[in-house]
Amino acid sequence: MTVPGSANILIVDDQPRNARWVEKALGQLQQRIVAAGSGAEALQHAATEEFAVILLDVVMPGMDGYETAARLRQQERSRYTPIVYLTATQPAEDEVLKGYDLGAVDYLIKPLLPEILRSKVAVFVELFLKREEVKRQGELLLEAERQEVRRKLAEERFAWEARRLAEDVRKERQLAGEMARRNEELALAIRYCEETEGRLRESEGRLRVLSRQLLKAQEAERRRLVCELHDEIGQLFGALKLELYNLQRIPPEQVPAQLAECVALVDRATQQVRQLSVDLRPPMLDEFGLVPAVRWYLERLGQRAGFSGQLAVADGFGRLGPELEITCFRIIQESLTNVIRYAGARTVGVELRRDGPELLLAVRDDGAGFDVGAAHERSLHRGSIGLLGMQERAQLVGGQLEVESAVGRGTTIRARFPLAPAEVPAAAAAKEEGMA
Ligand SMILES: Nc1ncnc2c1ncn2[C@@H]1O[C@H](COP(=O)(O)OP(=O)(O)OP(=O)(O)O)[C@@H](O)[C@H]1O
Ligand SMILES: [Mg+2]
Repeated sequence: MTVPGSANILIVDDQPRNARWVEKALGQLQQRIVAAGSGAEALQHAATEEFAVILLDVVMPGMDGYETAARLRQQERSRYTPIVYLTATQPAEDEVLKGYDLGAVDYLIKPLLPEILRSKVAVFVELFLKREEVKRQGELLLEAERQEVRRKLAEERFAWEARRLAEDVRKERQLAGEMARRNEELALAIRYCEETEGRLRESEGRLRVLSRQLLKAQEAERRRLVCELHDEIGQLFGALKLELYNLQRIPPEQVPAQLAECVALVDRATQQVRQLSVDLRPPMLDEFGLVPAVRWYLERLGQRAGFSGQLAVADGFGRLGPELEITCFRIIQESLTNVIRYAGARTVGVELRRDGPELLLAVRDDGAGFDVGAAHERSLHRGSIGLLGMQERAQLVGGQLEVESAVGRGTTIRARFPLAPAEVPAAAAAKEEGMA
């Protein structure tokens, strides 16, 4: 074992006395001295420890100094350790050469002067110590370099982890943002579903009320028809029968007058039947389309109820599909019935307009107006079907209807319907043009 700043010196000599002398002579150097009594022992020491120099006796029993030197050179640890031969006789030249061949650096002839031995060994010790110092410095440098590399690696790893962490944080934030957006969308969808469900429930309720009211209205309509048939047409035919019966009994000169009475009664009955069928469904609607039917209806009602009716419609409006035409006509019919019953209006305007893929319908009056919310509530409880029915009719063909009114400010019924291009056949449009 080598202590830093100190060197080991190996003395190989079979004579303990010689070894002790050398030990004493080198004592001043204050280095560790190891003594080996044979070549084999020397090989063992040199295999386990570093030596600054080996002082090797040439003449030894068994393995002599040269063989020991040769084997020391074969061992890894002592391959380059300086060997100094100690010999009692001046060796022959070839022996000296052999010794140098085997790696010796010097020959010392016994007896020696202790100063000479010390100064020679001191040179090897110094060399060894310097080499050790250089080795130690090299190791320190290597360690420093290793530490620098480790530090840089740690720095790079830290920077990489920081980047990864920042990236993770960015992704998490992005994810959180995305999730918040999805949550908002979900909340919106839920709200929309709830609203739709509410509207659906409301609509179901309205439909129930409406179908009940429709049944009632149907019955009322039947009663009206029966009354009409019984009271008006029935009466006319009764009178006609009486007049015809009288024909047999009156003097012949009164027959022409009696017959004229009968013809007049038949004319009135025909008129009544026509009126009834027109009320049920104006034939004009099927034959000429919505615009002429509305124009005719508005004029007729205006004359009857005393308001001025105006129809605003663009030239060449053309025809619509039969379902949409009857829907519009019934909405206008119900609106005008309400105008007559409640509004006391002086003017009533009906507007029909195409707006891109939509049809817009408006019925305006300048009459009394009313509180729409209150009327709606009343309709649900009292069983009115006018406004509710209009709304349902509009929705059945994919449209929407709204009522705008305020007390003293007139009323406007507005509806919009989706239009299909096929709802305007060119031929029907041309026919309607001819009518107008
Ligand atoms: N143009 C209008 N001017 C003034 N009030 C109106 C007008 N249209 C409707 N109203 C008011 O709205 C209420 C509801 O009308 P709606 O047509 O739904 O029912 P109704 O006419 O009373 O009964 P139904 O139509 O079933 O015979 C009416 O009772 C009336 O008070
Ligand atoms: Mg009504």
